[in-house]
Amino acid sequence: MSTGIVIAIVVIAAIIFGLIVVLTTSRSSEVRGAGALSRETRSRNTKANISDAAPSGREVEAQAAVRSTAVVKAGPVELAPWVAPDEEALGVSRRMFFNRATVTLLSVSVGAFGASIVGFLWKGAEGGFGSKINAGKIDDVVQLIRQNKGFLYLSEARAWVTEYPKDALGKGNAIYGGQAPVFSGMQAGIVALYQKCPHLGCRVPECKSSQWFECPCHGSQYNRVGEKKGGPAPRGMDRFGVSIANGVLTIDTGAVFAGPSIGVNTTGQEAEGPHCVGGGEH
Ligand code: FES
Repeated sequence: MSTGIVIAIVVIAAIIFGLIVVLTTSRSSEVRGAGALSRETRSRNTKANISDAAPSGREVEAQAAVRSTAVVKAGPVELAPWVAPDEEALGVSRRMFFNRATVTLLSVSVGAFGASIVGFLWKGAEGGFGSKINAGKIDDVVQLIRQNKGFLYLSEARAWVTEYPKDALGKGNAIYGGQAPVFSGMQAGIVALYQKCPHLGCRVPECKSSQWFECPCHGSQYNRVGEKKGGPAPRGMDRFGVSIANGVLTIDTGAVFAGPSIGVNTTGQEAEGPHCVGGGEH
């Protein structure tokens, strides 16, 4: 599924969730709750027979004219008896509180989850691991591999780039021909190997003396094009597809191709010196 489709799904889900929140909140506001009058209050109000008619201006002035400035002692105030709150109104109010708290918590959780997914996909869309990475001119890449004694590490792609010998293409085609983006790199003279060991995921370093990759975690070993030579790994090193346009090498780290099966040895490269970790043959 492409990044754009996933972002669209996340945005649509956020809109649907927002609508649910709005509908739930507006429905809650229709329910009588904390601001509602109790049954007792409503009944007293009805009995009091209060007139809604406001006094006219003349009536107010007439009352002001006859109003005495003498201090009038207030009569005894009759205290209203305490009336217990309406249980029904309290129940509705409590229910509303829990409903709103639940909806708010859900909104915050889903919002945070959606934001993290969008942030993750945004990063992939902007570049970095998981996207297509421009590795520079293929001629420069090959030169750097040779300068670094057979290995070039590209941290942004989390990949090792090494040379694939042209005279091994015949055997390579039989093994890697089904992985077209990988094989096209071999035809151009390079392989881009995922740094993660297919055994338990350690980062596999190069061993300059043996000219192999040798994993320090459990001793798996791979030749310079990532074909397994020893140790507990279940296959050779996984790899990325590449493309070359106008002489520029691009490594697509959005898809990982599984490494070759145990026993595949298209280059016939044996260890060229002492091993960096134990095991394997020399
Ligand atoms: S993780 Fe590399 S050999 Fe186990």
